[in-house]
Amino acid sequence: MKSAAGYIETHKDRFLSELIELLKIPSISADPKFKQQVTQTAEQVKTALEEAGCDHVAIHQTPGNPIVYGEKLLDPELPTILVYGHYDVQPPDPIDLWDSPPFDPIIKTTALHPDGAIFARGACDDKGQMYMHVKALEYMTATDQLPCNVKFMIEGEEEVGSKNLTDFVLNNKEQLANDIILISDTGMIANDIPSITTGLRGLSYVEVEVTGPNRDLHSGLYGGAVANPINVLSKMIASLHDEKNHITIPGFYDDVAELSELERAEMAKAPFDLEAYRKSLDIEEVYGEQGYSTNERNAIRPTLDVNGIWGGYMGEGAKTVIASKAYAKISMRLVPHQNWETISALFAAHFKAIAPKGVRVKVSIHHGGQGYVTPIDHIGYQAASMAYESTFGKKPVPQRSGGSIPIVSLFESALGQKTILMGFGLDSDAIHSPNEHFGLWNYFKGIETIPQFYHHFVALHRKQ
Ligand code: BES
Ligand code: MN
Ligand code: MN
Repeated sequence: MKSAAGYIETHKDRFLSELIELLKIPSISADPKFKQQVTQTAEQVKTALEEAGCDHVAIHQTPGNPIVYGEKLLDPELPTILVYGHYDVQPPDPIDLWDSPPFDPIIKTTALHPDGAIFARGACDDKGQMYMHVKALEYMTATDQLPCNVKFMIEGEEEVGSKNLTDFVLNNKEQLANDIILISDTGMIANDIPSITTGLRGLSYVEVEVTGPNRDLHSGLYGGAVANPINVLSKMIASLHDEKNHITIPGFYDDVAELSELERAEMAKAPFDLEAYRKSLDIEEVYGEQGYSTNERNAIRPTLDVNGIWGGYMGEGAKTVIASKAYAKISMRLVPHQNWETISALFAAHFKAIAPKGVRVKVSIHHGGQGYVTPIDHIGYQAASMAYESTFGKKPVPQRSGGSIPIVSLFESALGQKTILMGFGLDSDAIHSPNEHFGLWNYFKGIETIPQFYHHFVALHRKQ
């Protein structure tokens, strides 16, 4: 396959302005107020797929947000790549911390992106990365170089758990049949250290409510004599980790896939600068489970984190009050073989068991998903490795990621295929945070690398 670099150079400005148009629409899946914008984004993705050469592009309505599906089928004898991405984005909050409006994309340079980066919610997660695939397809169809069949499935509910996509996949297995699934929705180590994500963590997300007295009370008249739900909740949460930062829920580690010493030694070879890591986060020291390195803690070990905690008086000044209720949102990142439903149930049983008599506890389960691993001897991984090597001039490093894309494990169980995670973002691109951005160099490098994956995958598939 010829290099896409020349085509990209010629069409650079348009590739950028099209992405900017997509980034202007606030397709926030968490907030039903943005339903209309979500629909509008799906329509824009549909048009983009059609213009890139996809046939039969259709918007599939679901009880939630629509799924955009399109395909270019050349020959049933050729392998088929299924591309997945998401057009929904996280809420931009806290909006005050953005240096420019989240849906008014602008290009600025940064230390890590000297060629410029596009700042907007969804720039990296995942509109920018999803759109690389659309433009890579445009290149291949426009220059008559598409070497295989391709199917695109772009959803609008990834950031809220992909519930309706799950049903869509289960109900359309034949239409979605493929030889490999390709996703750009993760990151890489650095622009000069390309890496391929070989694993994702699973997730169990729960919310707890602790109720004490039947109403808010004067903290002088009642303080000390009844359980304060906020005190109790804090104590209960604190008890979920022991002094070694192990999670104390009975049975929590039962199914954890332990890595061999050899695998851990391999992992430790990935370039990582702890000093720079600390500096970039302004922390004096890292923190976590005893006996594991930072990269192990955030990729191959399960975690439990409070994502939000509230209750009582949170307004201006001081109010003396014992609240009737306290709440917390808690996520547990899981590793292969841990079942998210089992873990959610273990959490609920344990959290109720440790509550003192003076309070009542309610646990509700939001959503979850399984972890995932790609073996590096899979032809999909090898094709990706060759693709990066041809455009970055270096062999990429395999890297397990701590993030989650729950649908990937469903792809494996329902469609019987592995997923290749070719991410081009950097951890410092601030996904889900204020000032999210995506390097222009990364965007164009992705567009250049993707067709190489197609080419190498087809070649390796033929040899099989
Ligand atoms: N693209 C991310 C996941 C990701 C990012 C994986 C970087 C690896 C590296 C995805 O959009 C995401 O945010 N997933 C959620 C899970 C979802 C169920 C809300 C997550 O990981 O918190
Ligand atoms: Mn994403
Ligand atoms: Mn995300």
